Amino acid sequence: MRSLILKIVLATATFFHSSVAERSQSPAKTYKQCQRQTRHPTEGCPHGTIYVARNDSGAHFDTIQAAIDSLGNTTVPGHILIAPGNYTEQLNVTRRGPLHLIGMSNKPWKGDLYSDINVNTSAQNDVQIWWNSANHNSLFTDNVYTGVLTVGPTLNATLTGSGPTGFAVPADTPFGCTDFRAYNIDFRNEVVQYSYGPAHALGVSRANAGFYSCGFYSWQDTVYVGKLGNAFFYDNIIAGQTDFLYGFGTAYIEQSTLSLRSCGGGITAWKGTNTTFTNKYGVYIDRTQLIASNYTIAPNMVGKCALGRPWNSLHRSIFMDSYFDASIKPAGYIPWGTTTPNLSNLTFMATWKDYGPGYNETAEVQSNVTLVLTDSDVTPYRYPDDVFSTPDGTFGNIGWIDQSVL
Ligand SMILES: *[C@@H]1O[C@H](CO)[C@@H](O)[C@H](O)[C@H]1NC(C)=O
Ligand SMILES: *[C@@H]1O[C@H](CO)[C@@H](O)[C@H](O)[C@H]1NC(C)=O
Ligand SMILES: *[C@@H]1O[C@H](CO)[C@@H](O)[C@H](O)[C@H]1NC(C)=O
Ligand SMILES: *[C@@H]1O[C@H](CO)[C@@H](O)[C@H](O)[C@H]1NC(C)=O
Ligand SMILES: *[C@@H]1O[C@H](CO)[C@@H](O)[C@H](O)[C@H]1NC(C)=O
Ligand SMILES: *[C@@H]1O[C@H](CO)[C@@H](O)[C@H](O)[C@H]1NC(C)=O
Ligand SMILES: *[C@@H]1O[C@H](CO)[C@@H](O)[C@H](O)[C@H]1NC(C)=O
Ligand SMILES: *[C@@H]1O[C@H](CO)[C@@H](O)[C@H](O)[C@H]1NC(C)=O
Ligand SMILES: *[C@@H]1O[C@H](CO)[C@@H](O)[C@H](O)[C@H]1NC(C)=O
Ligand SMILES: *[C@@H]1O[C@H](CO)[C@@H](O)[C@H](O)[C@H]1NC(C)=O
Ligand SMILES: *[C@@H]1O[C@H](CO)[C@@H](O)[C@H](O)[C@H]1NC(C)=O
Ligand SMILES: *[C@@H]1O[C@H](CO)[C@@H](O)[C@H](O)[C@H]1NC(C)=O
Repeated sequence: MRSLILKIVLATATFFHSSVAERSQSPAKTYKQCQRQTRHPTEGCPHGTIYVARNDSGAHFDTIQAAIDSLGNTTVPGHILIAPGNYTEQLNVTRRGPLHLIGMSNKPWKGDLYSDINVNTSAQNDVQIWWNSANHNSLFTDNVYTGVLTVGPTLNATLTGSGPTGFAVPADTPFGCTDFRAYNIDFRNEVVQYSYGPAHALGVSRANAGFYSCGFYSWQDTVYVGKLGNAFFYDNIIAGQTDFLYGFGTAYIEQSTLSLRSCGGGITAWKGTNTTFTNKYGVYIDRTQLIASNYTIAPNMVGKCALGRPWNSLHRSIFMDSYFDASIKPAGYIPWGTTTPNLSNLTFMATWKDYGPGYNETAEVQSNVTLVLTDSDVTPYRYPDDVFSTPDGTFGNIGWIDQSVL
């Protein structure tokens, strides 16, 4: 017990810089007993948990997709425990009922964060899912075909589409998974070691999805949160170079690491939507560190990585209480491009209480592009229950978030 307490105190001192030190910092605890690696894999797991392993005759399935499909489209919660290993699969989750993918790991049991890395270190989960595919020169008709994991009710509902409103689906398209979760799993799409066209590690549309101590690794368009998608990330590492957080939906990233593999486009590239009700579609980043992926590339990136750019003029994103290393462009955000700047007085690309060598408030204000928010400006967007809504625009939709981290 004593050593566990010491470990937590140490993590507080090293990972999070000054202003966040007083908050609690531990991984999601909900499945820590189930995730623990013992001789009886499903020990401590919910009754009926399905066990997936590549090389274990005691496993129910040897692919994750087969386990997902076995659950059918019911409202009965599904739990899938995944043994350590490298799985080469493209996963689709269309079911509407809860589905929790639980990666075996001793980290939650020990209280170890996954995202607690710095410019000289990296992290890996014991469960890795790979699908190497990039939409290079429009090889595919849509980026979704490249994805490692896609959560959404139908194929059409998960398409990125084109134009300011994306791919339109009929109004009666059902909502997909109401409570998808993944714990301690890496999703990797690394076809080549540079931006080679959109390459999704994740897509979430018309669904609620939470990710705890997961890794998303790609180079371009790593994480896509599409129409009516709600995605929550806690203690994650999200790695990319170009526009690597993009979409139309709502994403909230908390206590995580955004790993900059180079600079291109922006970190966030969002498209807003005009609705008849108030919406808060956008990407919100809180208590997160933005750092170069490694020490070798860091010197070449100083001052070059933009916080984001507007995929349309209704882009909304806020970096809150976050640490910027020297890679971040002093001006913060940038216009989309020279011929289509996509800026208007509705564009909301903002920072609040950020700090670190890459944060320069004077340069941000002078840019006329980055908004530096006051405490009252940020209040409507501050916490997950402020921004996550149901499809009809009712806020406070957070019942699907793991309560152990709220
Ligand atoms: C599964 O077992 C085979 C044969 O023992 C071995 O070659 C392979 O590497 C194992 N795969 C995994 C993922 O452990
Ligand atoms: C895992 O699979 C990916 C894709 O098939 C491959 O590139 C990678 O080398 C594998 N890693 C390990 C540790 O086997
Ligand atoms: C799941 O069931 C719901 C309710 O019957 C239905 O609306 C939806 O289309 C089904 N989804 C899939 C992927 O079959
Ligand atoms: C990373 O390593 C370099 C070279 O050893 C060192 O100068 C630097 O302080 C280290 N940075 C961190 C955050 O550990
Ligand atoms: C998952 O959906 C994609 C389209 O997004 C499709 O290309 C792929 O075959 C599907 N994979 C499985 C395992 O269903
Ligand atoms: C998906 O969208 C295309 C283009 O609008 C349409 O032709 C097709 O019927 C849709 N598929 C389904 C299953 O609704
Ligand atoms: C540093 O990061 C770059 C870009 O991700 C990569 O190509 C390179 O191999 C990494 N170097 C080390 C030493 O990890
Ligand atoms: C949204 O509405 C505003 C004001 O009504 C308008 O200026 C803007 O062009 C619209 N944007 C989109 C993407 O439709
Ligand atoms: C913004 O830029 C994108 C990408 O070039 C373009 O598709 C879009 O039409 C532009 N304008 C608006 C108002 O969205
Ligand atoms: C945005 O600018 C237009 C004129 O271009 C003006 O009519 C509108 O009131 C402004 N909206 C806001 C929110 O400032
Ligand atoms: C911040 O930006 C301003 C305006 O570009 C510049 O004058 C100043 O030197 C910068 N401060 C630091 C610490 O780089
Ligand atoms: C920002 O706006 C001010 C006042 O309109 C102007 O003087 C300045 O040149 C603008 N800065 C940039 C970088 O466009």
